[in-house]
Amino acid sequence: MDFLLTEEQLMLKDMVAKFAKERIAPEASENERNHRFPAEIIKEAGELGLMGIAYPSEYGGSGMDFVSYFLAIEEISRYCASTGVIISAHSSLVCDPIFRFGTEEQKQRYLPDLLSGNKIGSFSLTEAGAGSDAGATKTTAVLDGDEWILNGSKLFATNGKEADVFILIASTDSSKKTRGLTAFIVDKETPGYKIGKVEKKLGIKSSSTAEIILENVRIPKTQMLGDLNSGFKVSMVTLDGGRLGIASQALGIAKACIEDSIKYSKERFQFDQPISNNQAIQWMLADMWVEYEAARLLVYRASIMKDRKMVYSKEAAAAKLKASEVAMDCARKAIQIFGGYGYTEDFNVERYYRDAKITEIYEGTSEIQRLVIARTLLAD
Ligand code: CAA
Repeated sequence: MDFLLTEEQLMLKDMVAKFAKERIAPEASENERNHRFPAEIIKEAGELGLMGIAYPSEYGGSGMDFVSYFLAIEEISRYCASTGVIISAHSSLVCDPIFRFGTEEQKQRYLPDLLSGNKIGSFSLTEAGAGSDAGATKTTAVLDGDEWILNGSKLFATNGKEADVFILIASTDSSKKTRGLTAFIVDKETPGYKIGKVEKKLGIKSSSTAEIILENVRIPKTQMLGDLNSGFKVSMVTLDGGRLGIASQALGIAKACIEDSIKYSKERFQFDQPISNNQAIQWMLADMWVEYEAARLLVYRASIMKDRKMVYSKEAAAAKLKASEVAMDCARKAIQIFGGYGYTEDFNVERYYRDAKITEIYEGTSEIQRLVIARTLLAD
């Protein structure tokens, strides 16, 4: 399949794979178990240009394409899915909307620090009563002279604990539901802006997932991102790209399951022979590989469509739906191949299993991806 990739994309993929294997892999499990944010690794990723792969050099980006960026997320997630989502949420959910919808002043002010990794970004859409129904946002933004006053609370913000810059969606006209939401850029230090509960989770524990509390947060009028009442569309367009980041993260987890299972099945002897001699194991490996390759094609196709600036919402939803379900299935099979050892912390497959689950949930559950796909099919 790599015949579809250009020489430049393959070089980037190899460089990231080397960085991930040598630098990220050795501390991935320990960081994850200890809920430790890999600050030093993120700094080094920034120095390598990995925090702003797909953005122009004039703003401090690496000037490559989105295919390259999604390849990088897969290679990183192969060894650490937490690091994968830290970079994906930062790039897809924060750098991307600022680049696409920001004013020139906003781009000049925020992108150089974000694209170099000097600052971390976080995206706040979800609320207690607004998960899949993202339009049900209750956080409010009220204009007072030259300032917006924000009040409310947000949930499940990836990077919430460490981020410096937040994209936040608030209601500016509650009578209009999805057509009455607006996006804002909020700096961490703004008075009234607080990090609330940091979630304790099943997996991806190196990445923080936090509550954001807003109490009379005053921000200049110029911090509005995009047009007034366009926040839902800003979010949906942003999430189309974010879903490909998560699909790529899921591909990385699936690849880890396959590679580790192949190695283990050749080393593990039972009944005087490697378990890889058993057809039951061979069929699991074959099915894992076929499903991973099928998911990879969907991710590549949607990524190419994004690079070509085509409408790719359905294709992104399909890629995330497939890749996340493949990651979960590969993780389940990997633990089965490892047997009792797979259930222990002595091997990485238990981490892959815990990490895989969230890919079926965040940035739109599998049910929401099916809804997006079906609505598009029926509208065509
Ligand atoms: N691109 C552009 N516009 C879009 C769009 C897209 N992908 N999807 C919808 N829109 C537009 C529609 O065309 C419509 O426009 P008009 O107002 O002009 O008619 C408008 O947005 C409203 O669309 P819908 O009527 O389809 O809205 P809905 O209320 O039925 O919701 C939904 C649609 C697909 C269910 C949406 O709410 C959704 O995606 N929900 C899931 C939310 C989600 O993914 N949350 C994850 C949060 S981020 C996260 O996980 C945290 C993290 O940090 C990782």
